[in-house]
Amino acid sequence: MYTFVDRGDRSLTLRPEATAPVVRAFIEHNLGAGSLPVKLYYFANMFRYERPQAGRYREFWQLGVEALGSAEPAIDAEAIALAMEYLSSIGIDGATLKIGSMGDENCRPAYMETLRAALAGKAENLCEDCRQRLALNPLRVFDCKNPACRAALAEAPKMIDNLCGDCRAHFDAVGALLGQIGIDFEIDPMLVRGFDYYTSTTFEIQSANLGAQNALGGGGRYDRLVADYGGKPTPAVGFAFGIERLIMALPAAGAHNAEAVQSTDVFIAVIDDKDRPLAFKTAVEMRRLGLTVEIDYMGRSLRSQMKLADKLQAVSVVVFGPDELARGKVTVRNLASGEEKTTGLKNLLASASKGFK
Ligand code: HAM
Repeated sequence: MYTFVDRGDRSLTLRPEATAPVVRAFIEHNLGAGSLPVKLYYFANMFRYERPQAGRYREFWQLGVEALGSAEPAIDAEAIALAMEYLSSIGIDGATLKIGSMGDENCRPAYMETLRAALAGKAENLCEDCRQRLALNPLRVFDCKNPACRAALAEAPKMIDNLCGDCRAHFDAVGALLGQIGIDFEIDPMLVRGFDYYTSTTFEIQSANLGAQNALGGGGRYDRLVADYGGKPTPAVGFAFGIERLIMALPAAGAHNAEAVQSTDVFIAVIDDKDRPLAFKTAVEMRRLGLTVEIDYMGRSLRSQMKLADKLQAVSVVVFGPDELARGKVTVRNLASGEEKTTGLKNLLASASKGFK
C-alpha cells in the first residue's frame, strides 16, 4: 500500500483498488435496498507502492465494473463476457482468459491446511518470503515468481481439485455458460489472485505482448466482502482492467479501428462566406440526429474543402452553393460513387438521416 505521513503527522494511505471502496459506498448509500443486482463501474487512478517496471506503476488507472446482489453463475459469465467483448471492441484480440476458483468458507480452510502441510514438507526449497507466507497465508505462495517455489507449488494440491460440492457446481456452471456463448478459457489451477476478499470464481485476462506484467485485467467473486464490512450478506462479482496495460497491448489494428470509428458521415462545403451561418446551423442539427458532421472553419476554397472531405473519408458532401441556395436547394455528392443530386433545404435533415438514399 502507498502509505505515508503527511505534514499534520497523519498516516495516509492512497487507494490501491476500488472494489472495497465500492462495497463501502454500496453499504453507506443503502444501494442494496433497490432492485438487485446493482451494476456499477468506475474509471479512476489507483496507487500501489510497488517497484516500478514496464507495465507496473505506483500510480495507474483502472476501468472496473462490479455487480452486487446475485450469486448466479450467469452473472460471473456476464462479467467475463463484458470484459472479453470490451477488449475486442477496442481492437485487442487474442488475449487469454484464465479462470480458477478460490473456494469458500466451507472448502478453503481445509484446503489451506492441506496446502500448508504439503509445502511444509518442502520448506527447505522455498524462499525466505514464502516460508513466512506459509505461516500467515499459504495461498500467497502462489504469488511468488521464484522458480523453486513455483516447482514446489506445481506438485502441491490445488484448490480447484479440493472444492466443496457447491463451489464445484458453481465453477462448472460458469464454464458451461462461457462455452455456450463461445468464449474460450483455460482453467488455471495456479491462478490465485492477490486479494483476500475473493471467493469462488476468479479470472485473469492476459496478453502475450506485455512481458512479465502480462495481466490486462482480472477479477472474480467476493461473496463475503459486503458482510465483512457490516452490510447485509450480498454476493458480488467484478473485474478491473489496467488502462496503461490496455494501451500497451493495443496493436496497430487498434489504431486502425480508432480511425474507422472517427469516419465522417457528412462534410458540409460552403462556397459563399455569407452562407456559413446557415451551414453551421445545419451541421449542428445533423449532429443532433446522431451523424458525424464536419465543416470548414479555416476559410478554405471549395477545392480545398473537397480535398479535406476526401481526407476525412466523408461518405457524402453537401455543397452550399449560392445559386442552388437561392432556389432553396443544395447539392449532395456521394464521394465513393461520385453521384450527385440536388435536395431541397427543407428535406435536407430527413434525407441526411436516411444517408441521402
Ligand atoms: P488487480 O488484478 O489487482 O485487481 O488489478 C486489475 C488490473 O489493474 C491488473 O490486471 C493490471 O492490469 C492493473 N494493475 C494492477 N496493478 C498495477 C500497477 N502497479 N501498474 C499498472 N497496472 C496495474 C483489482 O484491483 C480488483 N479490484 C479487480 C476486481 C474488481 N475484482 C473484483 N472486482
